[in-house]
Amino acid sequence: MRFQVVILAAGQGKRMNSDLPKVLHPLAGKPLLGHVVDTARELASDHICVVHGHGGELVKAALTGEDLAFSLQMPQLGTGHALQQALPHLTKAPVTLVLYGDVPLVRAATLRTLLEAAGKGAAVLTAVLDEPAGYGRILRNKAGRVTGIVEQKDATAAQRKIREINTGIMALPTAKLAQWLPKLQNCNAQKEYYLTDIIALAVKDRLPVTGVQAEDAGETEGVNSRVQLARLERAYQQRLAAQLLEAGVTLIDPQRFDQRGTLQCGRDVQIDVNCVFEGAVSLADGVSIGANCVIKDVAIGAGTRIEPFCHLDGAQIGSDCRIGPYARIRPGSTLAAEVHIGNFVEVKASAIGDGSKANHLSYVGDSTVGRNVNIGAGTITCNYDGANKHRTVIEDDVHIGSDVQLVAPVRVARGVTVGAGTTVWKDSPEGGLIINPKTQEHRAGWQRPRKAKK
Ligand code: UD1
Ligand code: CA
Repeated sequence: MRFQVVILAAGQGKRMNSDLPKVLHPLAGKPLLGHVVDTARELASDHICVVHGHGGELVKAALTGEDLAFSLQMPQLGTGHALQQALPHLTKAPVTLVLYGDVPLVRAATLRTLLEAAGKGAAVLTAVLDEPAGYGRILRNKAGRVTGIVEQKDATAAQRKIREINTGIMALPTAKLAQWLPKLQNCNAQKEYYLTDIIALAVKDRLPVTGVQAEDAGETEGVNSRVQLARLERAYQQRLAAQLLEAGVTLIDPQRFDQRGTLQCGRDVQIDVNCVFEGAVSLADGVSIGANCVIKDVAIGAGTRIEPFCHLDGAQIGSDCRIGPYARIRPGSTLAAEVHIGNFVEVKASAIGDGSKANHLSYVGDSTVGRNVNIGAGTITCNYDGANKHRTVIEDDVHIGSDVQLVAPVRVARGVTVGAGTTVWKDSPEGGLIINPKTQEHRAGWQRPRKAKK
């Protein structure tokens, strides 16, 4: 069956108390509306139209893709008025699926069931909630057929006891919309043109209206407040965590796990508590991640151990490496196999060869480091001359003592040893020792300054 999608996303979201339009608030690192657009794409509809209004250009700018049409709703007079604004953009596809920009977690499979149920009439996705407060309620007659929807604010005390709610998501016959939408009235508690009133119009036209109950009520929850947003975030994270557990990943505590992007895991990966994964992350077989790490756009090779409190961003990390605790690896870094990066070491835009180590308190930036290099504590690559960045090259088997400055551009050739406290500002030949000659003297009887008496 051919169908198109309209996503209503023009509302302000007053209850969020925010300057950011509600549909742009992130859930798992992606705007609410982005989740809905992705689901619409997964369904492979003929056409997707987004109705935007509040925060107009911001909403448009947050979405990319040639497949999206936009319709501006200004001012925002209700969900029915919103769909009316989309009319000029609709195609002839016989069914129009209406999604809400603030109902982010509905699954494509559920929507396919709804589309099938619409047939030649209309279908509305409902859910049965223990706490239905705030939602529109589904009205059914004695035979159980849907007869209409009443908003919480317009409902009688008896209607408020109904636990079957309107998720807002509907599949409607496109050809009828041009007749129905202008008939909507705004004589209700909110003085708005409610899309929900369209169900009573369909019933009046003797069209079959089917109420499809979602199997998992959680996927149909809307976000109206930050409390609901936080609850949905956790529910979504638990969904992701459950998928990982089933795939064989150890999560020490699935309640303390956050994924804001894609996470691919090999066999026997272990993730300790309070880690955040952003962007595209892949962890090969046997990788273990210690507690409290933030890992963004990183690929980590098999058997590598990331100790607690590391921040890794935009890096490729090879197999059997030991990183951290307290290491920071910044974009453009490539670590080969068996590299050790220890505490308070920052690595930026550097390639580090097999078996090399920087175990304590160092800055390795804009550098090419060969194999089996040992970088002593407190070593700094001075890559910035105040105007430009320069590269440091450290060849294979170099040993650098503690507290060394490498003033770039500079090359330390294969096999060189650099003594502690040396400032290296000239390229060196292979092998041997680099030191800056210094003397040490001892002044016997020297007195420390004392505090002046008041
Ligand atoms: C709506 C439904 C309610 C349902 C609930 C499910 C109506 C009248 N009520 O209520 O029955 O239980 O969703 O979550 O439809 N929007 C516009 N333009 C507008 C107003 C809203 O585009 O003029 C968009 C919003 O951006 C939002 C969606 O429509 O994405 C829903 O609007 P909202 O104000 O949150 O409706 P609810 O009060 O939640
Ligand atoms: Ca809502």
